[in-house]
Amino acid sequence: MKLRTLLSFTVFGLVAYMLTDPLTTDAQDANYDESKIPAYTLPDPLTFNDGSTVASSDDWETRRSEIVQLFKDHVFGAMPARSPETQRVVFKIFSESSIAFRVDPDDLESELVEAKLKEFDIVLGVDGSGKEHRIRMLLVLPGNDTTNTPVFLGYNFQGNHTVHSSKKISLSKVWNRDRECATALESTRGSKSSRWPLGLIVSKGYGVATVYYGDVDPDFDDEFQNGVHPLYPELQGREDNWTSIGAWAWGLSRMVDFFESIPDVDGSRVAVFGHSRLGKTSLWAGATDNRFRVVISNNSGCGGAALARRQIGETVKRINTVFPHWFCLQHKSYNDSVHEMPVDHHMLLAAIAPRPVYVASAQGDQWADPKGEFLAAFHASPVYRMLGLKGLGIAIDTDSENVESVQAPKMPVLGKRIGDRVGYHIREGKHDITRYDWEQFLSFSSRFLR
Ligand code: GCU
Repeated sequence: MKLRTLLSFTVFGLVAYMLTDPLTTDAQDANYDESKIPAYTLPDPLTFNDGSTVASSDDWETRRSEIVQLFKDHVFGAMPARSPETQRVVFKIFSESSIAFRVDPDDLESELVEAKLKEFDIVLGVDGSGKEHRIRMLLVLPGNDTTNTPVFLGYNFQGNHTVHSSKKISLSKVWNRDRECATALESTRGSKSSRWPLGLIVSKGYGVATVYYGDVDPDFDDEFQNGVHPLYPELQGREDNWTSIGAWAWGLSRMVDFFESIPDVDGSRVAVFGHSRLGKTSLWAGATDNRFRVVISNNSGCGGAALARRQIGETVKRINTVFPHWFCLQHKSYNDSVHEMPVDHHMLLAAIAPRPVYVASAQGDQWADPKGEFLAAFHASPVYRMLGLKGLGIAIDTDSENVESVQAPKMPVLGKRIGDRVGYHIREGKHDITRYDWEQFLSFSSRFLR
């Protein structure tokens, strides 16, 4: 083995150890005992910062903007301002091919559906400054000649080529989060395909668009020297600095700008989704950009759908310590005083209202606090009700409708989707995205994307 390879293996081994071992230890040592949750009061999404009440739906957009601003100031940091210049899209088609998927790849008798694969190189940049950053998007479209397709848009964790084994998809050429090489290995093709049931999604008439998240901003703390951050240096060195979750969310909005400029996709029918850290990201993208018609988070946990004040499983202090680049400097000031945060994460879900939001949990993912994810969905629901819509809309321990004011709702049963404009399920199994999760996302979204 060459010295350089040996060295990079050693460095990677060390980094992997530093990243995984304390994670496991911390996850084991974390509190999982409901009786140890400190008493807490949640801030009210329907009370303005000045203490007055949000009296009617006419007030909502103003209060919604306040909530988004609070999350910028205290959690995810500022974002580059939108302008016609920053929204101007430059792109070129990298590849175009046809493919057919089995609706169920495990069943060779299942229907075969035709689809189109397109890869685009999209420039994210500041007009006139000479600075630019390129990302590659994989777009999967139903049929052979579709236009105005509604799409599910979400990042992948390890490169576009991991979502399906087809050689028509180019290998990711940027920093790869758990490899020592710069270009991804052939052997990783399709390695995450279980998370991307493309045949099922395409068979329902939807497209899928995905980008490797590290293409927008590599996921490590480098004080914002790489990815898209150098495009806006003025957003660093401040308490509400532009973070990695902020960059990934901003990237998703730029992808909608791109959809608006091509005939293949209907930019007004985009469901944004994400798993885990990318579920935190999809919620933040959904809150900051109301062009996302449906917003879905899967197992997003702390910093995503879960209520921070419960301090069970992963905590604010722990996430800020291990992933300092995900949240802004101000967020670190709540490490030991989470009750002082002017927001909690039911307000992140509420900030998406009146648009539909879906929260998915897994029973084996206690680190992400499934109950806290459910309670956030529950406590976001009064906002929908105020808007004349049904939120989670569940009857808990009673036969009545609209009991969203009940204070201590019981967890829904495993494997049963509930809700209306706020949807929720908890399934058996571990932290992952499964076909079952997708079946729920598709059926929840169909009402809003059709
Ligand atoms: C870690 C982290 C979580 C995150 C997850 C992921 O477990 O503690 O907050 O959601 O990684 O993104 O996979």
